[in-house]
Amino acid sequence: MKKKKLKIALCILLCIVACFAIYRFFLRKSIPEGTAEEKVMAILQQNDCFVCHSKNAELPFYASFPIIGNKIKEHVTHGTNFIDLKEKLADLNNVDEVTLSMLDHAITYDRMPLTAYKLIHWGTGFNAKEKSVLAAWIHEKRGSDEPISAIPDSIPYDVAKARLGEKMYNDKRISLDGTISCATCHVLEKGGADKTTTRTSEGINGQFGGINAPTVYNACFNVRQFWNGRAADLKEQAAGPPANPVEMGDQTWDQIVARLSQDAELVAEFQALFPSEGLTESTVTEAIAEFEKTLVTPNSRFDQFLKGKKDALTAEEQAGYALFKENACATCHVGVNMGGKTFERLSIFGDYYADRDKQIVYNADDDGLKGFTQNDADLHKFKVPSLRNIALTAPYFHDGQYNTLEEAVAAMARYELGTEMATEDVQSIVAFLKTLTGKNQHLK
Ligand code: HEC
Ligand code: HEC
Ligand code: HEC
Repeated sequence: MKKKKLKIALCILLCIVACFAIYRFFLRKSIPEGTAEEKVMAILQQNDCFVCHSKNAELPFYASFPIIGNKIKEHVTHGTNFIDLKEKLADLNNVDEVTLSMLDHAITYDRMPLTAYKLIHWGTGFNAKEKSVLAAWIHEKRGSDEPISAIPDSIPYDVAKARLGEKMYNDKRISLDGTISCATCHVLEKGGADKTTTRTSEGINGQFGGINAPTVYNACFNVRQFWNGRAADLKEQAAGPPANPVEMGDQTWDQIVARLSQDAELVAEFQALFPSEGLTESTVTEAIAEFEKTLVTPNSRFDQFLKGKKDALTAEEQAGYALFKENACATCHVGVNMGGKTFERLSIFGDYYADRDKQIVYNADDDGLKGFTQNDADLHKFKVPSLRNIALTAPYFHDGQYNTLEEAVAAMARYELGTEMATEDVQSIVAFLKTLTGKNQHLK
């Protein structure tokens, strides 16, 4: 008797699901007339994209069921941590490259909505027409079909200021005891980052900071500076280390300017280039920032490949690039600098901090973007590091945890994508990453 009732209940449930599915299939709205932006939003809405990609999304009624409910909540958490589509698409005339690249990835590899979701919600999943509308929009916004573009041979800069900036970059008098210059921690002949033997940088009086030094090469392409973005641009960034007690000394810029001003020749040089200001914090940092515009590294083998020289990469390296795109690496590591455009959460899946080398003690730098914005939602978000010249800048990650690219790539797969990547695939991607070393007159 009990069994029969269960069967009836099951039949009714199936009927409801089927009716719903048929409704979704046949009454699926066609793409409405309107601007490209309106069409894009309608398509995403119709395919339930916002269900799992928005922190304010209303959960479906079955989210309160045991087991299945937990799974749904997990999907929503991971999905929103990966990308909050509602937030990212709030202003459709101003969409970042990462969002465009993520949408591109979702349609190219037919990954969304998740298969489990499609099984229950028949009729979701982009059809050919919807894909072509989205692809055209992405292409128009991005101006290209590739998620990554070649580094230009140079960007405009003021030659005289850059020359003076180079001098200041190498001037140890900026530090309190005359032992440290920018070049001490950002070695231009190596990869523009610090020595590969220490996780974090050694500053004045043998003190170590709490975070790994990123490269100065191509930093001019980054949306903001520092792992947590606390400097708006290179000029603002350059003002930081000289007055940082752990880096160049417990001193004020007034002291630094006074010290440098004892050099009459230097003062005259600044006077000539900045007649109304002379040598000041503002002009020293401006000159350094101007010099940093010369630190671009064009013509890596990969860039040659992007520019049309198809034999610039071996078959294995090309396979590595294909895997790099397929595994969504090129969503966050996007654009000219293969990163530097957005702040993304480290450890969307798993718990990076619980798993990492126990010798690394959690410190304020580990908070990431939250340390700058004070917003809880920004905890553990970091500026996506550039992958340009990555073969030269070990150790990897903001805490310098990994010494090899193999470890870094496997960790990305584990913590950003929730997968354990096959060793051959990791190796293939690493082979590709090694083609990203570009050219600059300083780089040996
Ligand atoms: C059932 C929840 C769910 C729905 C519905 C859903 N997603 Fe996702 N999405 C996820 C999760 C979870 C991830 C994290 C990566 C993973 O698990 O594969 C993700 C990852 C993504 C990514 C980044 C990685 C990738 O594969 O490109 C994009 C972009 C994305 N979703 C877009 C969409 C779009 C567009 C739609 C609508 C067609 C959609 N999602 C619908 C849960 C969902
Ligand atoms: C003691 C070592 C040390 C010195 C000296 C030093 N830096 Fe750094 N630099 C670092 C570290 C560590 C970071 C990362 C700090 C963070 O993100 O919180 C960094 C970050 C940067 C960045 C940001 C790059 C990015 O992608 O966000 C730039 C640019 C930079 N430094 C340039 C300079 C310049 C210019 C000077 C000289 C005025 C200088 N640094 C002096 C260690 C140093
Ligand atoms: C959701 C965005 C996202 C995705 C997807 C992603 N990354 Fe990252 N990647 C980051 C962030 C953020 C960091 C910095 C993490 C840290 O240091 O705390 C990073 C760091 C790295 C580093 C170390 C760089 C350095 O200078 O320390 C490498 C190498 C890397 N990623 C490669 C990859 C590869 C390969 C893939 C694909 C398997 C991938 N990433 C996918 C966001 C992403």
